[in-house]
Amino acid sequence: MNRQSAKVFAAIVVACFLVATRASAQFAVPAPAKPDGATLFSRQCGTCHIATAEGGPRQGPSLYGVFGRKAGSVAGFAYTGAYAESGIVWDAQTLDTYLTNPQAMIKGTVMAYRQAAPAIRQTIIAWLKDQH
Ligand code: HEC
Repeated sequence: MNRQSAKVFAAIVVACFLVATRASAQFAVPAPAKPDGATLFSRQCGTCHIATAEGGPRQGPSLYGVFGRKAGSVAGFAYTGAYAESGIVWDAQTLDTYLTNPQAMIKGTVMAYRQAAPAIRQTIIAWLKDQH
């Protein structure tokens, strides 16, 4: 190896080292934390629902105090689906079934949302339980 190619070789070694250390630095970044109930609610339900005492309904009724509430019972909200007639009371189980497929549970409902992932449903439901 002459001087020139030795220099080139050294430069390549340094470049490889830099690439390798940068790559390993990326692997060291911790995985992002799983979104909590408040974040999930805001992303997945917040366009259509509020869960606070103050504020008017959006496309869907307020979910403030939804736990223990009879379906279809928010005064002044014009439900489309047969909520009141369903006799359902909202709790962890009924909400879980509902969020999996609202149309399968409430006849005629227009709520355009379904969540197939149990962990996401349960995180949102646990958070909703505290909003009262
Ligand atoms: C695209 C808008 C939209 C999204 C997103 C949405 N909803 Fe709804 N939701 C509605 C509408 C509209 C109704 C009323 C449906 C009707 O009258 O048929 C409703 C009804 C409900 C009801 C029944 C309330 C009652 O008073 O009986 C619950 C519970 C509910 N939604 C929970 C949720 C949750 C929790 C999420 C998020 C995981 C969510 N919804 C996402 C639009 C939405």
